[in-house]
Amino acid sequence: GRVGVLYGGRSAEREVSVMSGTGVHKALVGAGVDAHLFDTGARTLAELAAEKFDRVFIALHGRYGEDGTIQGALELLGIPYTGSGPLASALAMDKVMAKRIWLHEGLSTPAYAVLGAGADPAAVQARLGLPLIVKPPHEGSSIGVVKVERAEDLRSAVEQAAAFEDTVLAEQFVAGRELTVAILGQGESAHALPVIEVVAPEGKYDYQNKYFTDVTRYLCPAELPQATTRAVQQLAVAAYRTLGCEGWGRADVMLDAAGRPYLLEINTSPGMTGHSLVPMAAAAAGMDYPQLCIEILKGARC
Ligand code: DAL
Ligand code: MG
Repeated sequence: GRVGVLYGGRSAEREVSVMSGTGVHKALVGAGVDAHLFDTGARTLAELAAEKFDRVFIALHGRYGEDGTIQGALELLGIPYTGSGPLASALAMDKVMAKRIWLHEGLSTPAYAVLGAGADPAAVQARLGLPLIVKPPHEGSSIGVVKVERAEDLRSAVEQAAAFEDTVLAEQFVAGRELTVAILGQGESAHALPVIEVVAPEGKYDYQNKYFTDVTRYLCPAELPQATTRAVQQLAVAAYRTLGCEGWGRADVMLDAAGRPYLLEINTSPGMTGHSLVPMAAAAAGMDYPQLCIEILKGARC
């Protein structure tokens, strides 16, 4: 059938999505799929409906792409799409809602506070200590994320994150190793791919070091004791199932010095760029990039 690769979009991660979408499109075409790029940032839903796609691969990130909105529109249009449905997408995009659910289910995630306008940073610091990670709850690719080590820097960090949205998430910083776990499938069939460890210079795995430099090192599979690998994968899969994620996703996890894992977030439409992590984990599991795209596409439903 005719496949649309939805990419671009209107979020702060548009540039990343352009890289993901062109990569996915090229791989699908190379594998003989009748695939067409469709930029949801430049074109309307009526135009999307007129394309008569038999299914779509969502290579969008962030707002209006990964947050349940386009998923809801595709449900209404009756077009099968890759990845999670509207609810799981919306929950995973909202880092505060996801944490609330994980804590309710006994899944480990760093202690946090939600700061509205006029919040008293001193009270937050008194409760959570330093360092803190301050972030806008609905962005991706580290956009708006600031690590606060000194009390006097907290207010400006909150203001920086508040440029993106009204409330800001402050999280206890977990000193340790930065891990990520790609997941395929849903429900009982959801399973983790090999764990990746990200080693960025001075722990700065920011927007630049995610996509545009070659200074970040990736270890896949991560060199961890077997029991730790299992615990990290189990936590990631439990977090994914608990939110009701489907198709594919990627859980970002911090491992503290004692080897305890903490969930940071789940991405329901993870990056598929040349620097991205799900393709790396898939490769370690013996699945090349085109095979991965086909596998994700096969899971499309609505
Ligand atoms: N938000 C980016 C695309 C990622 O998680 O890969
Ligand atoms: Mg993210």
